[in-house]
Amino acid sequence: MAEPRLAPRPGRSGRERVARPRRLLMCPPVHFDVTYSINPWMDPQQPVDGGLALAQWTSLRNLYQELGHTVEVIEPLPGLPDMVFAANGATVVDGRVLGARFRNVQRTAEGPAYLAWFGEHGWTDLHWPEHINEGAGDYLVVGRTLLAGTGFRTDPRSHAEAQEFFGLPVVGLTLVNPQFYHLDTALAVLSEDEVMYYPEAFSPGSQAVLREMFPDAVLATAEDAAVFGLNALSDGRHVLLPEAAVQLHQRLRERGFEPIGVDLTELLKAGGSVKCCTLELHPR
Ligand code: ARG
Repeated sequence: MAEPRLAPRPGRSGRERVARPRRLLMCPPVHFDVTYSINPWMDPQQPVDGGLALAQWTSLRNLYQELGHTVEVIEPLPGLPDMVFAANGATVVDGRVLGARFRNVQRTAEGPAYLAWFGEHGWTDLHWPEHINEGAGDYLVVGRTLLAGTGFRTDPRSHAEAQEFFGLPVVGLTLVNPQFYHLDTALAVLSEDEVMYYPEAFSPGSQAVLREMFPDAVLATAEDAAVFGLNALSDGRHVLLPEAAVQLHQRLRERGFEPIGVDLTELLKAGGSVKCCTLELHPR
């Protein structure tokens, strides 16, 4: 029997894609600039258009709000040009907040600044970390498991600390390509049990772990990964990702998701895009 043409298109798994409203924390790029280089994308010689960065960021915030998400905003601090990358500010799971402790001195002050915001906004279950970790840049929640990146920024000892604090299983994944220095540059969570990722960003053992856990994952091409296509945020139905990642858009549509292209080219000059600018405040 033919499929009714106007029915909502189910995913390949036949699943209906349902958006769940999220609570998000963002930091406007008021003091954004590229004045130092701590990843291969950052070239302090290349000029940054601050006005354009703010306009692109504002479009992303408006888009989240139009999709029904709640966006909270933390005040940016002068002298912290990377503070716009809110994903790195903390890891929030089940209402618990694990503070960030940055690898590079240029970003050190962001950790306490973000944790203070949580303290001032009614969050009580806060943990100042013992080990270096760059927040939700390296910790991604999929279902009831935490995927945890290491290799460039987050110390692998942080993984045990996070497992103990959140009481959730933590699966460590080793990144091997400096262009993909945070987990959220190489892998995105699409639903409670689906991810997309760029295999070559991971060590052989970590690639095997990902195949084992997610045999049906969407795999990104080198071209899509290079335009930060995996730096995406999914609400279960809409997937916000760089518009330049054209093949991922197609693959997501085939799975029944609604990809939405976002233009954050100014922020890409610091090695960040959609997901880096967004910290999900995962509720209790
Ligand atoms: N320039 C920043 C850094 O190198 C970019 C951070 C991107 N954030 C992310 N969640 N991947 O730390």
